[in-house]
Parts: sequence; C-alpha cells; structure tokens
Amino acid sequence: MNTSDNEDIYEINYVSRLFDRMSKTYGITNYISSFGFTERWRKQCVNEINWSLELKQGYDLMSGMGESWHLILNRSKVKITGVDISPEMNRKAREHLIKNVEWEVEIREENILNNKIASESADFIVSTFGLKTFSKNQLRELAKETTRILRKGGQIAMIEISVPRNIILKIPYMFYLKIVIPIIGKIFQGDSNAYKMLGIYCEKFQNCESFKKELEHQGLNVEMKSYFFGCATGIIGYK
Ligand SMILES: C[S@@+](CC[C@H](N)C(=O)[O-])C[C@H]1O[C@@H](n2cnc3c(N)ncnc32)[C@H](O)[C@@H]1O
Repeated sequence: MNTSDNEDIYEINYVSRLFDRMSKTYGITNYISSFGFTERWRKQCVNEINWSLELKQGYDLMSGMGESWHLILNRSKVKITGVDISPEMNRKAREHLIKNVEWEVEIREENILNNKIASESADFIVSTFGLKTFSKNQLRELAKETTRILRKGGQIAMIEISVPRNIILKIPYMFYLKIVIPIIGKIFQGDSNAYKMLGIYCEKFQNCESFKKELEHQGLNVEMKSYFFGCATGIIGYK
C-alpha cells in the first residue's frame, strides 16, 4: 500500500483496507508502542460516562477488535453495538466474543457515515481512537450521525491521540508516532507503511477541537478534555 500524496487517505475503502492489514498485529503493536497508554486512555474515556444512570443500550463507534468492551462491561452490564467498517477487525472482534459468550455485543459492519442505525437508540456512545481517519467534512457528517443516534439525555465520550500543543513534547511525540511506531509495526508485521499512516492521520487531525465545534453545532452539550498533556484529547457530554 503506498502512501503517496495523491492517494485519498480518507476514502472509505482505503481506510477499511488499511485496518484490514493492521488487524494481524494491531493489538500487540498498539499496546507495546504506547507503553500501555492506549489501554489507560480507553479506560479514562469509558469512565467519563456516568454509569450511575440507568443505561441499557450503547454504541462503540469504530470499535475495531472490541478493545473497549471489557472496560464498558466492567462498569455496567449493558448491551453494546460495535460499528466498524473493516471486515478483518470485525473478524478479530468476533473471535473475542467467542471467548466471552456472556457479553451482549452486536457487531455492525457498516460505514458510520452511511449507516442504518435507528435514531435516538443510544443511551451512550463511546469511541476510542476512531476519529483521526475522518477528514474535516467527514467529521461534520460524523457529528450529525452521532447526534441522530443519541437519545435525548444520552451521553458521549470519545478519545483520540492528538498533537500536543507544547513544543517540547510535540517534537519527540510526533517523531515517535511517525518514525518509531512504524519501525515497531515492521518488527511485528514486516510492513511499516500501514503504521506510518497513523502519524500522518494524527498530524492532520491535531486534536478534538474541531469535532467538538461540529457536535456543538448539532446542539450537543460537550466539552473537550486533554489527557497526558494533550497527547490524547477527548469529547465528553450529552444531548
Ligand atoms: C485505530 S482503530 C480503533 C479501534 C478501537 N476502537 C481501539 O480502541 O483500538 C480505528 C477503527 O475505526 C474503523 N473505522 C474507520 N473509519 C470508519 C468508518 N467510516 N465507519 C466505521 N468504522 C470505521 C477502522 O476500521 C478501525 O477498526
């Protein structure tokens, strides 16, 4: 897979194939290359939901291999619908479910920007590391879909790796994302191109600020949160 400038890196088939390719090693590379930070950030994101309220049905958007499901189900025995476009990530997610038969999880293999999810069906929506592969226009559409799916009073918590504002942190962090992680990816997969893309997407995404504005534009009450000096940012709030 080449990463030349004229390739549309936001085109849905491109994104889906990218994650299909990464699925073989995504879990281990992600955990090792982040020194466990991604797992900690997922937990922090899930903990932003107010679990003391009565919640029955939630959505995990861009759910990947279901990395956040144990964290959600540790907090509450809710029904989760995972939504992901990548057949290979979903295949891994189904393997995960076979080992956890008591979990009530449905997987929808859909493009979230063109989905058939019922309106106002979500008590909560979470998403961990699934925002960076959306262009600015796609983030606007994602904000519309998120708002449509949430019921009134429904909660949202999302998180994404981001470019820290502090230059002293930004330079080594971006070097790590763009240079070191592809090398780690290569060690596990023998192909660093797919992992190189994560740094490229992150640099274009920057942080959750513009997505927050899109959600506000749709009428959601949201705020942006910063995690570990802005190395990740997130959105929390409700409809
Ligand atoms: C970086 S992974 C995150 C996976 C998981 N949530 C985690 O915490 O590691 C991003 C996921 O978003 C999915 N994705 C990207 N664009 C999507 C879209 N338009 N609709 C549904 N899923 C999408 C990809 O297939 C991939 O599995």
